[in-house]
Amino acid sequence: MARIPQSFIDELISRVDIVEVIDKRVPLKKQGREFVACCPFHNEKTPSFSVSPVKQFFHCFGCGAHGTALGFLMDYEHLDFLEAVRQLASLVGIEVPLEAGETRADYAPLYGILDKAAGIYRDALKHAPGAIDYLKSRGLTGEIAAEFAIGFAPAGWDTLLKAFGSGDAERQILATAGLVIRKDDGRYYDRFRERIMFPIRDSRGRIIAFGGRVIGKDEPKYLNSPETPLFHKGRELYGLYEARQVLRNIPRLLVVEGYMDVVALHQHGVRYAVATLGTATTAEHLKKLFRISPEVVFCFDGDRAGRAAAWRALENTLPEAHEGRQIRFLFLPEGEDPDTLVRKEGKQAFEARLGAQAMELSNFLFKDLLDHVDTRDRAGRARLAEVIAPYLARMPGGPYRQMVEEEATKLAGVPIRIPANGRPLSMLIQGSPKQDVIPAAGRSGSQPRLTSPVRKAIALLLNRPGLAALTGEAAALEGLNLKGVEVLQALLEFAQAHPHITGAGLLEHWRDTETGSYLMKLAQAELVTPADAMESEFRAVMADLQGRRPAEQRLAQLMQASRERTLHESEKAELARLLKARPGSRGGPEP
Ligand code: UTP
Ligand code: MN
Repeated sequence: MARIPQSFIDELISRVDIVEVIDKRVPLKKQGREFVACCPFHNEKTPSFSVSPVKQFFHCFGCGAHGTALGFLMDYEHLDFLEAVRQLASLVGIEVPLEAGETRADYAPLYGILDKAAGIYRDALKHAPGAIDYLKSRGLTGEIAAEFAIGFAPAGWDTLLKAFGSGDAERQILATAGLVIRKDDGRYYDRFRERIMFPIRDSRGRIIAFGGRVIGKDEPKYLNSPETPLFHKGRELYGLYEARQVLRNIPRLLVVEGYMDVVALHQHGVRYAVATLGTATTAEHLKKLFRISPEVVFCFDGDRAGRAAAWRALENTLPEAHEGRQIRFLFLPEGEDPDTLVRKEGKQAFEARLGAQAMELSNFLFKDLLDHVDTRDRAGRARLAEVIAPYLARMPGGPYRQMVEEEATKLAGVPIRIPANGRPLSMLIQGSPKQDVIPAAGRSGSQPRLTSPVRKAIALLLNRPGLAALTGEAAALEGLNLKGVEVLQALLEFAQAHPHITGAGLLEHWRDTETGSYLMKLAQAELVTPADAMESEFRAVMADLQGRRPAEQRLAQLMQASRERTLHESEKAELARLLKARPGSRGGPEP
């Protein structure tokens, strides 16, 4: 994928106004310093969706949705990052540049060769009666085979090699696209031989990879393209492009396990079926799915392998279990998969089964845990409290998790102690364990609070990055052993170098990084500091932080700085103070 230079994103965010972007889609009302509306990401009657023109950030107190103008467009219009960047850029009338050396043109030959290969496989299918018979025996119509561009890779080691000529450049591209394999002796051979070929398309319909199934009993049953510059298994979903081609509105997505399941479901009118590609569902998959639809149903075989796969999906899904998102699990009868079932019972019965038998995420969680833990005695209930805690810890804060926590507490009969790793924000802040379990109701339910000076400083900076100019070098925080201090340092450095950046600009700068998600959390914190007190508060917090550093270390650093540049007034005062406090000292700053 083409990369966009970070400096461009910074520039873009500094030019757009989030209020304007959102107001066009969700009319906003001014309320104090902020703008509010009923949240577009969940159903509500009273507005809890608020947009801050200062931070250039939105946040819903009801469902926890939050982000920048870029994030809003991605969620609201179901766009991916690049698409959202393009839209914003065209809104403010600037051109999206591509990073040098990694321009889209670099990938053009890859897309080209994959497309041509798909054509070759399709033509080959027409001349392969055995393959056609196999597809017919599996009940596929010619129509659906054409729609999914299903083809056939003939037997032989050089079908593609011959078709693309023998130039070194071609072989190189074929290899990069995952279509041929290079042997140690430098010779090449076709990866896919004598297999039914399922092209995998990206969200724009371009072919990026293939899955190939044997006709007979060979091993492996399915062979997939390797990871390539265009294909990342953990990101792609088979059938998603096709679903979006047919359905304008997708109220529900069904995630199944196999290629054939997707094709059969689509053929029978269940057009919202997609599949992961021989991997467990990742958080990235989930994000993609929820950008498109508010409900995701996972479908698994009823056997033990199906249960195991469901647990893996559950674990990856929990962090995405936000309000307004429905996640359900459907288990099929033993020996059936979606392909066999939908052929047998048809669309209507299949959908009725979906409606009646798919279990909501927390029901699945409880049911499976209760199948394994006997809560009739005290030891069992204690065990339940213990095993459920890590699952709760993975869920985002908010009313949904609160409900699940309450139910768990009721079943276990004791408050659930959520472990430190990924523990709920409410617990970081409040002292008493009783309160820890159930966050205070109301507005601040899912909001972090600004308890440490580091958090406070970061929150102030996110509100007004210009404050960074008030303090000296970020290095002054070196050696402070406090959580988040490296983030604060990075933030200070960046904001000092970019005097006009907004809070949203900072958030976008660190998008998809660990720092970024930490910042996102703090950006949601409600800052009670009035606008005219921010400066003094920031100075106080920074002074507090610097005061926590071992005096000697700070002293050495100030001395060093005084040799390299003129000290700020506040630094001079600090230096004088430190020198005076030093046992047996009578010196001043070095010249
Ligand atoms: P299954 O083995 O459940 O097969 O694989 P299936 O989809 O029902 O296949 P049919 O009906 O026999 O044709 C489910 C998925 O797991 C991946 C593929 O993505 C497959 O669709 N898989 C399976 C592999 O990647 N490699 C394999 O060898 C088997
Ligand atoms: Mn099958």
